[in-house]
Amino acid sequence: MDTVIGVIGGSGLYEIDGLENAAWTAVETPWGTPSDEILTGTLDGVKMAFLPRHGRGHVHSPTTVPYRANIDALKRIGVTDVISVSACGSFREDMAPGHFVVVDQFIDRTFAREKSFFGTGCVAHVSVAHPTCPRLGEACLEAATAQGITVHNGGTYLAMEGPQFSSLAESKMYREQWGCDVIGMTNMPEAKLAREAELCYASVAMVTDYDSWHPDHGEVDVMDIIQTLSGNSTNARGMVARLPALLGTERPPCLHGCDRALEYAIMTAPE
Ligand code: ADE
Repeated sequence: MDTVIGVIGGSGLYEIDGLENAAWTAVETPWGTPSDEILTGTLDGVKMAFLPRHGRGHVHSPTTVPYRANIDALKRIGVTDVISVSACGSFREDMAPGHFVVVDQFIDRTFAREKSFFGTGCVAHVSVAHPTCPRLGEACLEAATAQGITVHNGGTYLAMEGPQFSSLAESKMYREQWGCDVIGMTNMPEAKLAREAELCYASVAMVTDYDSWHPDHGEVDVMDIIQTLSGNSTNARGMVARLPALLGTERPPCLHGCDRALEYAIMTAPE
């Protein structure tokens, strides 16, 4: 099977560099219109598809991002591997602004989003015990390291609804009681939907701030985030540009089983 890398770019990543035969394509889905058109092309001989999660011009809030349409649109155009890139706050001193974290676990505290392709008519329960694909995560780690980025291997991402940032009490609870490493507003239900769509999924979270828990840093605001993101976006684009060479043109069956997630998941009897 051909590799087709889908990159979902968050705040700070609105384009990717060096695509050959680049074209923006509109894709419609039964779940509605995705956040934007999808930029397709080839990089190092590997097919790529880029979707800005918030739309060009940043028009969708974390709550209104059409997550189901986004994942379905990527699936429809043949994407096999999804790399999610997003900004995050950090709960750890050693995960400093400017660092990247290859996230491997999530706590989903979002509550105002459609979270499944299944429901009435066809019921399915996929496993998200291990919500990210280790093969893709390793490729991101290698690409980020080669790019000279300080990157952390693994971390638990608290997905919050937003759009407001956390209170101090929430920030401390996520950090001290729940053991979370980073916090953001967009990786859920994206990761769950990618699993339902049998797509390999990895998440690279770019640290922009220390949320509100850190005694030596003021509370988080959008200006700080934008400032850190302008540095991060060059790094993120450099990391993405290295992925095709690492993943190759031929996509093997996923050893982790991401591409067969529905095999034993559907409860509804066939008609
Ligand atoms: N995105 C970037 N920083 C964040 C934070 N502190 N909380 C939630 N989402 C974020």
